[in-house]
Amino acid sequence: MTVESHAAQGTKGREDSNAFVAFDTVGVSGDAPLLSVRNLSVHYPIKRGFVVQREVARVRAVDGISFDIRAGETLGLVGESGSGKTTAAKAVIQLKKPDSGSIMFEGRELVGLSASAMRPIRRKMGMVFQDPYGSLNPRMRAGDIVGEPLKVHGLAESGDDYRSQVAALLSTVGLSPGMAERYPNEFSGGQRQRLGVARAIAAKPSLLILDEAVSALDVSIQAQILNLLQDLQEQYNLAYLFIAHDLSVVRHISDRVAVMYLGRIVETADSEDLYDRPLHPYTQALLSAIPTPNPIHERSRDRIILKGDLPSPMAPPSGCHFHTRCPIAADVCSLTDPELRRLAPNQAAACLLASGYETAVR
Ligand SMILES: Nc1ncnc2c1ncn2[C@@H]1O[C@H](COP(=O)(O)OP(=O)(O)OP(=O)(O)O)[C@@H](O)[C@H]1O
Ligand code: SF4
Ligand SMILES: [Mg+2]
Repeated sequence: MTVESHAAQGTKGREDSNAFVAFDTVGVSGDAPLLSVRNLSVHYPIKRGFVVQREVARVRAVDGISFDIRAGETLGLVGESGSGKTTAAKAVIQLKKPDSGSIMFEGRELVGLSASAMRPIRRKMGMVFQDPYGSLNPRMRAGDIVGEPLKVHGLAESGDDYRSQVAALLSTVGLSPGMAERYPNEFSGGQRQRLGVARAIAAKPSLLILDEAVSALDVSIQAQILNLLQDLQEQYNLAYLFIAHDLSVVRHISDRVAVMYLGRIVETADSEDLYDRPLHPYTQALLSAIPTPNPIHERSRDRIILKGDLPSPMAPPSGCHFHTRCPIAADVCSLTDPELRRLAPNQAAACLLASGYETAVR
C-alpha cells in the first residue's frame, strides 16, 4: 500500500488526522515513513459488578492520534503524567490492542495481526523502559539478559557466536564484556540502563521505543545515555519514539516533537520550531516551566502556571479538552473541538485561537 492510499484510508474518526496527514507528509522528506500511525485510539473499559461485569465507564487513554517516524529519525512524544504516552507506545508495539486506527510498520499493517504473525515483526521494534531496576530480571546475569532476544529469535549460529554477539553488544553500549557474569544489582543506575539499551538493540531493530528511558537518571548520567543513543542512531540508522514528560529532555535528541494532552496530540512540529515558537498554549506552558541556565533570563522568565490537574480521560471537558486550564480560553473554546491545523511549514496545533507565522518570517 502506498503512503498516500494509507493516508487516505485513515480519514475515519477525528477529523484532525486530515490536517495532520497534510502537515506530516509535506516538506519533511519524500521517503515512506518507517512507522505511520493514523487515528489511533486505545480505551480502557472500567467494569463493575460481582457476577456479571458491566462496563460503567471508558478511559480514553489515546484518542485518535496520528504521527509518522522515518528511518533514522527521532520523534519526541511529550505530555503530563496520564496523557497517554505509554498507552500509545504499547499499542504501537502491539502489547495493547487498539480500539481503532492503523499502525503501518515497514509497509505492513500491524492492527489485527495474530500473535504469531506479530512475533517476527516485534524483533524489529525494541523497547527501553523508565525503570532499569524493574525491567531487568534480578536473577538473570547481564549476559543472559542481553542475549535473551538472540535466543528468542534464533539469531546466534552457535554458542561461540552467541557469546561473541553478547560481548559485542556490551561493548557497543559502553560496558565491559567481562560484566556479562554480573547480576543487575551489581550495576549502577546508568549501567543498568545501558544493559536495557543493549537488550533492546540485540535483535537489530529498526525502531526503538524509549519510554521515559532517562527520566529516572541523574542529569549527568542522562546526558551520557542520550549521547549513547545518538551514537547508536547514527551507527545503525535507528528510529526512536522518545517518550518523556519533560520537554527539556527531548529537546536535543528529537528531530520532531509531538505534544500530547488527554490522549490527543495538540501540537507537533520540527524540534527547532517547537522550541522557538510554540503555537499551542499548552506547549507554551510546558516550555515556560523549563528553567534557563542564564540567571538574568531566569529572573525575567515568565512562567505560565496551569490551573488545576489534568482532567479525567473518562470524562474529558467539552469543546477543546484544554479549555478548563488554558490561560487564554475564550467562550467558544468550551463549545468547539479544535482540529490539528497546519499553521506553519512544519508545525500544526489544535487551538482555535492560535495563528501561524509563515507570512511573518518571510
Ligand atoms: N490498565 C489500565 N486500566 C485503566 N486505565 C488505565 C490503564 N493504564 C493506563 N490507564 C489510564 O490511561 C491514561 C493514560 O495512561 P498512560 O500510562 O498511557 O499515561 P502516560 O502519559 O504514560 O503517563 P506517565 O507519564 O505517568 O507514564 C491514564 O488516565 C491512566 O490512568
Ligand atoms: S482552543 Fe481555546 S482553550 Fe483550547 S488551547 Fe486554544 S485558546 Fe486554549
Ligand atoms: Mg508512561
